[in-house]
Amino acid sequence: MEEKKLRSQEWFGRKGKDGFIYRAWMKNQGFPHHLFEGRPVIGICNTYSELTPCNAHFRELAEALKRGIWEAGGFPLEFPVMSLGECSIKPTAMLFRNLASMDVEESIRANPMDGVVLMCGCDKTTPSLVMGAASVNLPTIVVSGGPMLAGRFKGRKIGTSDLWRFAEEFKKGELSQEDFTAAEAAMARSQGHCAPMGTASTMAAMVESLGLALPDNATIPAADSRRKVLAHMSGIRIVEMVKEDLKMTDILTRKSFENAIMVNAALGGSTNFILHLLAIAGRIGVELNIDDFDKFSSHIPLIANVQPSGENFVEDLFYAGGLPAVMREVSSLLHLDTITANGKKLGENVLNAECWDRNLIGTLEKPFKPESGIAVLKGNLCPEGAVLKPSAATPSLLQHRGQAVVFEDIDDYKKRLDDPDLDVTPDSVLVLKNVGPRGYPGMPEVGNMQLPMKIIQQGVKDMVRISDGRMSGTGYGTVVLHVSPESAVGGNLALVQNGDWIQLDVPNRTLNLEVSDEELAKRRVSFQPLQLGYDRGYVNMFIQNVTQAHEGVDFDFLKGASGPEVKRDSH
Ligand code: FES
Ligand code: MG
Repeated sequence: MEEKKLRSQEWFGRKGKDGFIYRAWMKNQGFPHHLFEGRPVIGICNTYSELTPCNAHFRELAEALKRGIWEAGGFPLEFPVMSLGECSIKPTAMLFRNLASMDVEESIRANPMDGVVLMCGCDKTTPSLVMGAASVNLPTIVVSGGPMLAGRFKGRKIGTSDLWRFAEEFKKGELSQEDFTAAEAAMARSQGHCAPMGTASTMAAMVESLGLALPDNATIPAADSRRKVLAHMSGIRIVEMVKEDLKMTDILTRKSFENAIMVNAALGGSTNFILHLLAIAGRIGVELNIDDFDKFSSHIPLIANVQPSGENFVEDLFYAGGLPAVMREVSSLLHLDTITANGKKLGENVLNAECWDRNLIGTLEKPFKPESGIAVLKGNLCPEGAVLKPSAATPSLLQHRGQAVVFEDIDDYKKRLDDPDLDVTPDSVLVLKNVGPRGYPGMPEVGNMQLPMKIIQQGVKDMVRISDGRMSGTGYGTVVLHVSPESAVGGNLALVQNGDWIQLDVPNRTLNLEVSDEELAKRRVSFQPLQLGYDRGYVNMFIQNVTQAHEGVDFDFLKGASGPEVKRDSH
């Protein structure tokens, strides 16, 4: 095959003044001249940050990557981009996913590089990087940071999902302050992102099933030396990908998106997956809609026995055979001819994968749970859709009729939740408004509301909860999320009143408010859109341009791609 002229040569290969300018300052780093004479330049897009603890080991990991790039004859150049730490960023990291993606897109396009490695870890650092890179469409490979080792506390293995249990036990006085604090250090005891199949590991699995990463990217623990081997091999591979001109559009096809949805169901992956995959599809130009998530996942059982839907951790899944072994179990349903980052077809990567532990990886005939995936609900409460994760829900609540207990926003919820006079029973349906993309703003992970104190005291563990917000990938419960349109833009969710009857029917995929159209129209007359008071800056831009949950919460103006070309020089 005839080799394409390297994009980086538009900078470094120039004669005269322009070449001088593009090379001279680079040489202050000690790079000899021959590096500029036609090697594939590989940009390493690094989300290292001490404020993103899940990605704090990325300097070291980048060194392994660079060794691979050098070995293959490439020229690695590392650059930082906005890094989003899920646990610290207020009001929610999701508010900044699109901003980070713009940083990534423009950093790649504007700079001399032929291929890109995306270093992703904590929840939003994967979608923001993949979205940004997809809008440029260079050869691109993802290296994830890997999951933490499972924590150990009082003789038990623990992970992020246990946080919700600890919080409840602490609230009930069953866990002392001292033990509660000790649990913090026991839970996050190693480098890496959250240990369960939360959103970070869901994203790492998403890139592997899409074909954007090498096999085993999803599960090798961060602390395992094989994570560095994977980085090294990804470094070698990206140089080859540049030579083959294997671009993101070659890998991200409609079929690979369908694969990712099916694999996510087999894993019991996070509901955040929906928003991020929709946004990525929008950037790469693949038609995907919210109904596809139900269509391609409802027939897939839960294969992986990993928290929060199961019992173990992503680390254990690696020891049992990793994602290739899970994909092998559902391979009769997957498109095996999609091309992946290692240049092979998906089928070649997974069909010979071995399973070492049937307690971790079930089969289609003997799955861990019969129902998994994402249920997409429709009805007058969510005409554009709402979602629920059946594998994390209580089976007896999947068909439920109850009366609404309404919280107008997050402050109202926090104020009244534990009020002894709150008119609530275990059969009530908790409704939280104004936590959607525009309403909060940024659609935070508050959808799995803690239950009211007086309900917890009755020993009740789950209730039906409905909101236009999201839920942490480590959360669980019978929780209806992503109600669209959201209450802040006047969706019917905004019109729910205390005592209204609500009918949830997951088997039939419906969610209805038992209030007549006439009555809803009457209530709509007095609906007042929320005044948020953000009249400047990024947050204002977010509110003006963000799309609804069923469209992926991307900015309307970011849909699509502008490609890698820049016509004008800087001098
Ligand atoms: Fe970073 Fe969970 S907080 S992955
Ligand atoms: Mg999260």
